[in-house]
Parts: sequence; structure tokens; C-alpha cells
Amino acid sequence: MCGIIAYAGTKGAKDMLIDGLEALEYRGYDSSGFYIAKEGSVKSVGRVANLREKAVKAKQGSTGIAHTRWATHGVPSEVNAHPHMGSQKRAYVVHNGIVENYQELKEGLKKSGVIFKSETDTEVIPQLIESYIEKGFDFHQAFLKTLGDIRGTYGLAVMDAFDNEKIYVARMGSPLIIGIADHGRFVASDNSPLARHAHSVVYLNDGDVAIITGNEHEIFSQKGERVLRGEEKMSADVARAEKGEYKHFMEKEIMEGARVVENAIRGRIEIDDGTVKLGGLESVADRLREIDRIIIVGCGTAYYAGLVGEYIIEEYAGVSVEVEIASEFRYRKPVLTPRTALLAVSQSGETADTLEAIREAKRKGILTLGIVNVVGSSIARETDAGIYNHAGPEIGVASTKAFISQVTVLALFAVFLGRQRSMSLVTGRRIGQELMLLPQKIESILSKRDELKKIALAYKDVRDMLVIGRKYNMPIAYEGALKVKEVSYIHAEGYGAGEMKHGPLAMIDEHFPTVAIAPKDSVYEKNISNIQEIRARKGKIFTIATEGDSVIGEVSNDVFYIPHTIEALTPILSVVPLQLFAYYIADAKGLDVDKPKNLAKSVTVE
Ligand code: AGP
Repeated sequence: MCGIIAYAGTKGAKDMLIDGLEALEYRGYDSSGFYIAKEGSVKSVGRVANLREKAVKAKQGSTGIAHTRWATHGVPSEVNAHPHMGSQKRAYVVHNGIVENYQELKEGLKKSGVIFKSETDTEVIPQLIESYIEKGFDFHQAFLKTLGDIRGTYGLAVMDAFDNEKIYVARMGSPLIIGIADHGRFVASDNSPLARHAHSVVYLNDGDVAIITGNEHEIFSQKGERVLRGEEKMSADVARAEKGEYKHFMEKEIMEGARVVENAIRGRIEIDDGTVKLGGLESVADRLREIDRIIIVGCGTAYYAGLVGEYIIEEYAGVSVEVEIASEFRYRKPVLTPRTALLAVSQSGETADTLEAIREAKRKGILTLGIVNVVGSSIARETDAGIYNHAGPEIGVASTKAFISQVTVLALFAVFLGRQRSMSLVTGRRIGQELMLLPQKIESILSKRDELKKIALAYKDVRDMLVIGRKYNMPIAYEGALKVKEVSYIHAEGYGAGEMKHGPLAMIDEHFPTVAIAPKDSVYEKNISNIQEIRARKGKIFTIATEGDSVIGEVSNDVFYIPHTIEALTPILSVVPLQLFAYYIADAKGLDVDKPKNLAKSVTVE
């Protein structure tokens, strides 16, 4: 939920740190700050741009740590902004994660006379380090002792005001990566700030402690034994995302919809054999033949992609699927057998609840798979096997292109499993052919976005709305409602259309519109009946329909047409107008589309 970057090297540390924070800002933007050796710290509330302005006169320095915050404990304020320091102004700390036992630690320190300035959990860390230094430990030992005391999750970068060279880091539950550049070394929460500088990276594991200077890094266990972690070439995928000619990352990423389908299927569809090649699953292909049940876990948009996957896999592979919200799965007592597999869907690959669900499944010995976009992310590294989306960095907090990619990959996975079972060559080929036609169909939708913008403006001032769909498009109703909620702050509720009579219809009147997803599919007539029930109660309807449908316009106030495809793949098309609908409403309301209030891109705290 927060972003950390540290730098030691020959380039100006201040610029390296602030540029890095801007690349990490999508992880949290309530406040930000840095500490630079010999120069001290600067902190500011709000966006990183405020920090850049405030630090305009600060010296560059050569070694420093920096942080952009998503508030967990303590309101967004300058005093709660990181870095936090101890009362002796010796230890400076930036932290991503939660110190679960900070109250008891804080009480103990206060009893020994320590005065706390902030409301955060993090401040106990520098105070503990300084308390151990007072007991005679050197800084490194004091750091290790402190790590032994704290419980919870952390990605930490720490500096000693008496040592201008070293950066101490530790990872437990929140990602940290060492970036190696020609001019120095970085430590960051993820790859995005490293893309321009580092030629190689070292992924730290939970429990690793490291000491970084401008030209070397040493990695230890918390017991102090030296640990070797291989250097990996910086992935070409991590091209630092730029907005280009677009006003927002969200708009740019929606417009990349066709590209991400191409990237997801590239080299994976074997049309002659009617099957797919998923290199990341080769090592577990035999185990997958034996699987008779799949539990898909994810959060938010990724969870909704999983719901689409459930329909596709059950229909085309004949394997039983359950989809679980990750934060629920990990606290349930799920019935797992050796023939159950867990499939985690996650764009960032760092979502804490999804990661913990994987760890719980691994503790029970079942096969764990991942569909992940960020190369080298925790979920990618902790699952037994998986499939990368190759969708490129997704910066907008509202997930758009990643969702399209996730559903595309789930369709590929369904063909992979199906062709191991009873799916015919013809069916496998048919799905492959349709997948290959999707990019141009998405492009045709995007080419009509002005039409959609006009419709969106007619809904921008409503307070509430329903989004309804059936079967493959019920998850799209949920996803569309989530997009509207999180970027326009309108209370939109996704519902299975068949549920209207069981309650939601009571809310419908001329002030409460409905978005209906009603493509020409196996439940079309049922959808038409729902639309008519709503119209009969003066409800306004915006319908997403299939090109050539001559009936739908008579029962809708507004209609947007999408191309035809096989039913299982309609979600990849029907979601695009909903993404644009939410985007245009939010933009028209003048909201910060890429960084909606109270949210962050990667939820690495539980
Ligand atoms: C979606 O628009 C939201 N930003 C959020 O629900 C997101 O999908 C969820 O936090 C899961 O993130 P992940 O895919 O990185 O695991």
C-alpha cells in the first residue's frame, strides 16, 4: 500500500528519490518524504509533487531513503509522513506494512521515557533501534534486535545519521527489490522506479536483511548468516509507463485493451491442434490432468475475472470451479483434497490477502497456480507455476487492461485444461480463432468511444445506479459497478439480472437508472424481460447490446452496441464500454481518475 525507494550512488540522491516516488505514487499518495545523509529529511502531505516543490532548495546528497504513504495508522499529515526518526535523531526509517504489536512496544518504550511524535505504528521502529543503541548495541545489531521484536509485515529501509554510506533493509511480507545501476544501487517496493536505471535486480525474500552501499550489497538472514540471492536481468516488460498523449493512465490503459489481448495470446494459440501452449504450466501439466476441482482466489477486479473464469472452465473443461474472495478464503476451513488446485489471479502479484491465501493452500499441500501481470512479483514467485499476462505496467488504480488480460488468459487456461480432457479439437480451434479476432473487435468498440462519452455525460450526476447482467456477464455487472464506484464515487451496485424481482426492483424509479448488459446470448430473452420490468417502473436504462439487435433500442433509453463473439468471450467485449463509461463520468466530474481518494494500486496490507 505504500511505496519505498532508497538510493546510494553517484547521481543526486534527491532527484533519484523524488523521481522514484513519482513512479511509485500509484501505491499510495496521502503523504511523502525523504531523508538524505548529512542533509536531513523533508516531508509533505498529499502528492509527491508537493514534496518536490517543498524540497526545491534541499541539497542532492548521495544516499537516502524515501516513501510515499497510504495511511493505515494515523491520518495523512506531515507528522505521520515517513521517514520516521527516533527521539535521538539517529535512526531514520521508511516502512511499508503494519507492525501488528506496535501498541505494546510503544507502551514499553514510553515507560522508559521515550516521547512519540506521530500516531503511526512505524515510529516504534526507529525508537526501538535507538533504545538498543543506548543499551550498547551497534546500529546493525540494534536493527536486528528490533526486527526480532516486531510482529507483522514490513518492507523497511533504514539509515543511521552517523553513517552516510549504508542503507539497511529488511523484508517480511512487503516486497523489496535491490536495483543495480551503473551509478549506484536502489532498493524499491517494485520494479517501476528501477526501469530507467537498473540493469539488473535482486529480489529479496521474506526474512532477508541487507546492507546496501553505492557499489555493493550484502544479504543476510535475520540470524546474521550471509545469504546468496541471484541477480536477474531487468525485465523488458517493465518499460516505465508514460501517459503519452492521454490525459490519464486509466484512459491510456483502456485504449490498450486490444494490445493486451494480443500480448496474452501471442505464441500461445496452436490453431491446427486446437489447443494452447502455456509454458508456465509445463512443469505441472501432469498434475493438472489429475485435478478435479479448482479454487480461484483474488480481490476486487481480479476476483471478478475469476468469476468469469468459473463459467468458462466449467463449460469448456468440465472441471468444477469455486471462486473465493481471497480475504475470505484464508479464514475459512476449506475442504481441500490432493486433486484440488488453487489459482490466484492478481495484477500486481503483491496483494496481501491473495498472497496469504496461496500460503495457506501451500501449507495444505495443494498445487498453487498464478495468473499475474508483474514479472517477479511475490505471487509469481511463491506459486508452483503460472501464466504471465504480459499486459505491461498498469498504473491507474482502477484496473482495466489487466482485467481484459486476466479473462483472456483464463479462456486460454480453459482450453488447456479442456484439451487435456474431453474438449474436441474443433471446439479448441473455435475458441482460439475467436480469441484471435478479439483485438480488432475491441478496436471497433474503442473507435466509437465518443458515442459512449455522450451517454456517460447523461449519467454523471446520478447518486445511485444498478448494473445488471446474467451468466458470463454477471461478473461484468459487478466489475462495471466497481469501476463506476472507485473512480466516480457514485454508488453503483452490480447485480445478477435474475435477482431484480428478489429485491433491487424496489429501488427503481425515474431517479435510479440501470445499466444492463444484454448481448445476444443464451439468456438474452431473460434480460429483455428484466429491462421491461425496470421500464415499467419508470427506470432509465442504458443497455450494452450486440450489433444488429433491432429490438433493444425500443426498450432502452440509451444503447451501445458491441460486436458479436462466442458467449464465453463476450465479457472481454462488454467490459470495455463499462470501463469507458466509468472513466468519462469521473473525468467529467473533474475527479483524479488515476488516484481515487482513499485507494491505492497495490493492496499489500491486509
Ligand atoms: C480494481 O479496479 C481495484 N483497483 C482493486 O479492486 C484491485 O483489482 C484489487 O486490489 C486486486 O489487485 P491485484 O489484481 O493487484 O491483486
